[in-house]
Amino acid sequence: MHDILPEQAAAWHHLEEAARKVVTAYGYRNIRLPILEKTELFSRSIGEVTDIVEKEMYTFDDRNGESLTLRPEGTAGCVRAGIEHGFLHNQLTRIWYMGPMFRHERPQKGRYRQFYQLGVEAYGMAGPDIDAEIILLSARLWRLLGLRDVRLEINSLGSPEARAQYRETLTAYLRRHVDALDEDSRRRLESNPLRVLDSKDPGTRAILADAPSLTDALDKDSRTHFETLCGILEANGLPYTINPRLVRGLDYYSRTVFEWITDELGAQGTICAGGRYDGLIPQLGGRPTPGCGFAMGLERLLALLETQALLPPTAAVDVYCVSLGDAARMSAMKLAENLRDALPHISVLAHCGDGNLKSQLKRADKVGAGIAVILGEDELRDGTVVIKPLRDGSEQRTVAQSELVTSMKALCAKENEVQ
Ligand code: HAM
Repeated sequence: MHDILPEQAAAWHHLEEAARKVVTAYGYRNIRLPILEKTELFSRSIGEVTDIVEKEMYTFDDRNGESLTLRPEGTAGCVRAGIEHGFLHNQLTRIWYMGPMFRHERPQKGRYRQFYQLGVEAYGMAGPDIDAEIILLSARLWRLLGLRDVRLEINSLGSPEARAQYRETLTAYLRRHVDALDEDSRRRLESNPLRVLDSKDPGTRAILADAPSLTDALDKDSRTHFETLCGILEANGLPYTINPRLVRGLDYYSRTVFEWITDELGAQGTICAGGRYDGLIPQLGGRPTPGCGFAMGLERLLALLETQALLPPTAAVDVYCVSLGDAARMSAMKLAENLRDALPHISVLAHCGDGNLKSQLKRADKVGAGIAVILGEDELRDGTVVIKPLRDGSEQRTVAQSELVTSMKALCAKENEVQ
């Protein structure tokens, strides 16, 4: 679990603001849900025999002996809330969320035990148009951020019935080659054979090359759904690759699944992933309602923005108010308040505590201030204040305190012009 320190805040705000702009542009509304849910919500939705439920959840009993879990993802909570508050059945709902998720995974670059996701979920729409919409939405965010070289992989898992049949065919094939499979895949063969498809083991991959294909096993309706989705993506000029081995690590998907992947982050290259989950709502006790969505990993996105030099410079203070002596400090506080009233878009940091001129100017420099406003004993007596530009080499000047706001407005306007 990692700390996000003040020097990283500008990057987070930049990403969050861009994401907010994009989800709002598509009419999605924000939802904020508890971080803790009953454990069974996750085991019933994500699936008993998935890595997340088998070995990655932070689960504990509360004081009433009820088993609770720190949410490992956001979809299950959205469905739980939707059933509870009635915003799923017979409605068209588009929501988004952002917040921390928890998985006890082996930490490595791009993989944390507490990480942030931004997700969208859409309910009540069964057709491929909404699948396409959420993919186009994510692509718009990449464009807004300036991201390059992220590729879209898509696949269809078909209907639950077609998949169950494919599962039998695949299991029978893999059983014939069981000796050549890696240990993990052998275990999965019995518990969750579809996950064998995304094995990274070279031996297993060689066996998979001739395995019956999930695409060939698709039911007719799922095939049409998938082809229409591909058509919409093409009509919108969005390139994609069909990856017939893309199966995802959560059990609730049916039909469309997709991932956005980069090669610039090493092993943890999936920055965003999701798909359709029409069966999940009835499975959790709601009336049948289609659903689809995705979640993106914010740490991974930030790492990619950094790699591609797309992060904004760290936000600096605009004005540092230097004051020398107790009486001057009192007046400087007031001047700083006046500046914040008159120029609400700039940041004004007023020095607190002791310190001579040199040490205060050093602090002003450290926080990146562009201008120092200095109030010493002489200025206090004369009713004046010194404006000292710190970055552009221009001369300092003394103005009446009553003129400070006007002078600063003029200075800020000039700076904006230069930019
Ligand atoms: P997921 O593939 O488990 O899907 O996670 C989505 C994204 O969260 C990943 O692609 C990755 O960027 C990020 N992520 C996952 N685990 C970690 C980790 N340990 N450290 C850092 N980042 C991580 C879901 O969670 C589904 N709920 C997505 C969804 C929403 N499907 C439908 N609606």
